[in-house]
Amino acid sequence: MRKHIPEHIAIIMDGNGRWAEEHGKERIYGHQNGVEAVRNAIEGAGEAGVKFLTLYAFSTENWNRPKEEIDALMQLLVKAIKNELEGLMQNNVRLQAIGNLKSLPLECQEELQDAIETTKNNTGLTIVLALSYSGRWEIVNAVKKIIEHGIEEQFVTQYSFPIFLCNNQIPDPDILIRTGREYRISNFLLWQIAYTELFFPAILWPDFRKQHLFDIIAEYQMRQRRFGKTGAQIKI
Ligand code: IPE
Ligand code: IPE
Ligand code: MG
Repeated sequence: MRKHIPEHIAIIMDGNGRWAEEHGKERIYGHQNGVEAVRNAIEGAGEAGVKFLTLYAFSTENWNRPKEEIDALMQLLVKAIKNELEGLMQNNVRLQAIGNLKSLPLECQEELQDAIETTKNNTGLTIVLALSYSGRWEIVNAVKKIIEHGIEEQFVTQYSFPIFLCNNQIPDPDILIRTGREYRISNFLLWQIAYTELFFPAILWPDFRKQHLFDIIAEYQMRQRRFGKTGAQIKI
């Protein structure tokens, strides 16, 4: 499986609520069980040799959910970061985050910053948690930064623009996975997925395991990415 290893995989982790419903439980039970799926995605990405894994954990629009669910999700986030930190260190994993992090509860911000700081010199897989994130928010934010810096129009190009996005050290995703049996982007990485290969496994997030990731990578390796060229040009 070592040929064409994707450098960056992004995942929209959807379907926790319905998974819980199917098990006759409250929605939060699905979120709790989603943590095991996250662990599988991280381990699988590491084993496959992927460099970057971006996980959509909470969108700007998710703030419109009932307060009890938001509170439970934020608590779960704090707990999960605490519990996983040691494992991240052991596996040389670096944690980063994108989104409007200042809008998160203080305890969450502190736990997150602590984990980011603790893991910052790790050199293996980098995980990017998208929290209070949306693609439109990120693009508008980039435009604001360009104006603040007084960048002249001639210097604003498709190559310079991404410098002002949240994470300009990371290449665009090669693969985007969305679980949850929905076929939409839900405001994730709108700029970065221009040429990303899309995968929609028909499972709910808590059922996601390493093998799903390996199967997707294998299918990715069969695809031809043409970036506007002809197939013949790519083969040369
Ligand atoms: C994804 O699962 C997790 C978050 C958006 C935080 P959902 O909570 O959206 O689960 P469904 O889509 O309602 O089943
Ligand atoms: C997308 O899932 C956001 C995350 C997985 C964090 P949603 O459940 O919020 O998406 P929609 O509302 O069904 O599009
Ligand atoms: Mg959903």
